[in-house]
Amino acid sequence: MDDYTKIKSIKAPDVAVSAVLVPSQDLPAETPTVSGYDWENGTDYNKILESYTYSGFQATSFGKAVQEINRMLKCRSVALTEETSDPYEEDAFIKKKTNCTIFLGYTSNMISSGLRDTILFLVKNKLVDCIVTTAGGVEEDFIKCLAPTYIGDFNLSGKMLRTRGINRIGNLLVPNDNYCRFEEWVTPLLDEMLNEQINEGTVWTPSRIIARLGEKINNESSVCYWAWRNNIPIFSPALTDGSLGDMMYFHSYKRPGLIIDILGDLRRLNTMAVKANNTGMIILGGGVIKHHICNANLMRNGADFSVYVNTANEFDGSDAGARPDEAVSWGKIRTNATPVKLYADATLVFPLLVAQTFAKYHFSNKKNV
Ligand SMILES: NC(=O)c1ccc[n+]([C@@H]2O[C@H](COP(=O)([O-])OP(=O)(O)OC[C@H]3O[C@@H](n4cnc5c(N)ncnc54)[C@H](O)[C@@H]3O)[C@@H](O)[C@H]2O)c1
Repeated sequence: MDDYTKIKSIKAPDVAVSAVLVPSQDLPAETPTVSGYDWENGTDYNKILESYTYSGFQATSFGKAVQEINRMLKCRSVALTEETSDPYEEDAFIKKKTNCTIFLGYTSNMISSGLRDTILFLVKNKLVDCIVTTAGGVEEDFIKCLAPTYIGDFNLSGKMLRTRGINRIGNLLVPNDNYCRFEEWVTPLLDEMLNEQINEGTVWTPSRIIARLGEKINNESSVCYWAWRNNIPIFSPALTDGSLGDMMYFHSYKRPGLIIDILGDLRRLNTMAVKANNTGMIILGGGVIKHHICNANLMRNGADFSVYVNTANEFDGSDAGARPDEAVSWGKIRTNATPVKLYADATLVFPLLVAQTFAKYHFSNKKNV
């Protein structure tokens, strides 16, 4: 026997063969197979996005998020009846408007970014019912009506920017003058609110302040303006943690006494969740905005539909990174729900999610009217 024949006659160790070639059990017949976009279709963006469902990884989560939002919209399209509406609610902002109350949450930077225009579309067309955001998500909306935000670069030096009076938000730039203009605009309005508090006993909650500012900005490019016009409340329990807080701080030296009641807003937000026939949560980012919406939904034993879009992970035990299943354990999402977490930068994926859900729903309803 030559060397070659000798080597060929040596068998691979049985232990390795049985370890590597473990026989498979059949997967359930309905298990989808992986596939991608067929480029023979040319550049068909709708088909590209539809193909995501079967692509795997976050593309599949995107497809699932589309399905979950479409479930919200299907539920929302069921007309309210005498029994399922709440005719005695006097607060127009929290009155039940549809069969599925949609809570939209977003972090401040989303309004700093171009995502503001996608959020504007939803609010202008009454496609969501309730918003929760942080202070920057309110003031940056007004500031953009007064002066533009610019595209910069993540790598611009902080020292150089500081000497030029330019502030950086990621790769966006906001000149300090924008905040000076904001101060000029907002300070007289704070005076007005304080006068109303003193003379008429008005109790100012963050959502009432935001609605008043939305009315006063009187500008159709503003999310807060449309939210005021369409009676969509914007809740912001940490309203003072931003430039608006700075303005209130300075104002408190000129004219002390303005009081902001956060409990009044908690009542309004939780009441919306408690009264809703069904609820959907769409939460872009984490932190206060995520928990505030989830906690309101605890008051009704959990949301029916949920989509989280964020970049946070759960290994550190943060609420920001918690997957929907953690919220199920707290009763913030229903045990029979099909929530989705999409790990992604919202500026990349949210316009695409809206394109595949709200926009189709809105424009097909418009056609049918
Ligand atoms: N433009 C601004 O960002 C701005 C302006 C003024 C004040 N502030 C204040 O800073 C404080 C912290 O801001 P915050 O609570 O709004 O959120 P944040 O910026 O601290 O983000 C919270 C979490 O949301 C997720 N997230 C953020 N951006 C995301 C994105 N593009 N895509 C996916 N996930 C994303 C991340 O996991 C992040 O850890 C607030 O009190 C806010 O008012 C922010």
